[in-house]
Amino acid sequence: MKTITSMHNPRFSMPGLAVTALFAVLAPTLSTANSAPHPGDPFPGLSAEQQALFDGGEEYFVQELTVTEGLGPVYSEKSCLACHALGGIGGGDSLENANHFVQRFGTLNANGSYNNLAVFGGDVLQTRSISDDPGANGCKVAAEVIPPEASILALRNPLPMFGIGLIAAIPDATILAGARTAPDADGVLGRPNQAPTAARPGRFGWKAQTVDLAAFNAAAANGTMGFTSLLSPSEQKPQGLDTPAGCTNAELGVVPFDDFIPEITAWEVMLAPVKQKSFDEEARRGQRVFNDIGCAKCHTPVMQSGSNFQVKRTDGTLLAVEAVSDKPVRLYSDLLLHDMGADMDEKVTMGTAKGSEFRTAPLWGLRLRTAFLHDGSASSVYDAIKDHGGESAIIRDRYLKLLPRDKKAIAKFLDKI
Ligand code: HEC
Ligand code: HEC
Repeated sequence: MKTITSMHNPRFSMPGLAVTALFAVLAPTLSTANSAPHPGDPFPGLSAEQQALFDGGEEYFVQELTVTEGLGPVYSEKSCLACHALGGIGGGDSLENANHFVQRFGTLNANGSYNNLAVFGGDVLQTRSISDDPGANGCKVAAEVIPPEASILALRNPLPMFGIGLIAAIPDATILAGARTAPDADGVLGRPNQAPTAARPGRFGWKAQTVDLAAFNAAAANGTMGFTSLLSPSEQKPQGLDTPAGCTNAELGVVPFDDFIPEITAWEVMLAPVKQKSFDEEARRGQRVFNDIGCAKCHTPVMQSGSNFQVKRTDGTLLAVEAVSDKPVRLYSDLLLHDMGADMDEKVTMGTAKGSEFRTAPLWGLRLRTAFLHDGSASSVYDAIKDHGGESAIIRDRYLKLLPRDKKAIAKFLDKI
């Protein structure tokens, strides 16, 4: 069991602010720390080597990066934890921290396709610059603003990552087996985010836009913190312009920090899912109704992970993680894209996903969340369901016609998983 002392690994001097933030996050759960795993805990029974990797990765995840460690020149936050702390280390975030909802901006080309406005610094907005940070050494660069050319603004809700290693370990074939090319009687389809030439389907992110967990982490570190790495080597261009003189990694004295991404990835893989609460009679009824009206057609209750899933050690060699291999994954998602209708169309495309297509949101750990749907526009589970459209419209209408006691039973069920 991880204890708070693991936060004090001598490899880092944790800035006071981060420690305070961390305690605030952990405070409600510490008193019962020796019972079942809490959100933010690793799987029980890790080997000493796995536990050490977990602890090291967690330190990186909560660490506030400095300029010489690779922050900036433009960025939105200094640590991963800043946007991923709701309910525990690795959670999502609430709308009270609206600045943590990643802001994408773009426009439509003449032919109607999405233009991410890279020439103006799109499509992710970096809201701060290192100019006022210690170590900036006179690097002067402005934080990004949304350019007048942008006609599309889309917010993205930070996703929690509890149990994400189990999702990583689901075989591609299992995901692909759920796809449909013709709608079923309720109008439900489901397709992978996979270009015809791509070797593997995507599974991470609101649009299943990313295949590989380490690649997602590298892109997140780059897009939100300005941290470049082997997997995401190009510096963000502030407002689309070349890095100003004095602000390049070389001029700032940035020391390459190559174990950041692999250690965080290993930590994520060993981060346990939110523990299901035991079902009472009402929750069991809610589960039955959820299945009966068709919610489970997209929110697949369980998938099986594959054998011998491995993470990379920092030296590049592989380490098997038994805790995520050959396990039932009770994620409540098919990890496929569904067209959610015109009202949900954010116009942003990613991979093969259109503006209105999203990955079925995994529903495990839902009780820890406070803002729902890809843009956080739903402030209750009820609103999130009510806003389902497109392929889910028939099943949503069936839900809306349920007796209040059946809706309540579904809410109870969703609160347990
Ligand atoms: C400014 C806020 C912010 C910061 C900082 C941030 N993230 Fe995120 N994170 C998000 C948002 C928003 C999403 C959803 C992105 C999407 O799919 O469009 C997300 C999604 C993720 C996911 C995908 C989870 C899933 O279920 O598919 C992972 C993994 C992740 N972040 C890791 C990280 C790591 C590692 C860091 C630090 C290097 C980090 N994030 C820093 C906001 C942030
Ligand atoms: C056709 C597929 C489909 C069906 C059927 C469906 N959903 Fe969803 N559900 C989704 C997708 C896709 C999302 C993510 C939407 C987004 O990104 O904004 C989602 C999101 C959700 C969310 C919000 C989760 C979050 O993390 O924000 C809840 C709650 C939910 N669904 C519950 C239900 C319930 C209950 C039913 C049955 C009445 C149902 N869904 C039926 C595809 C479906």
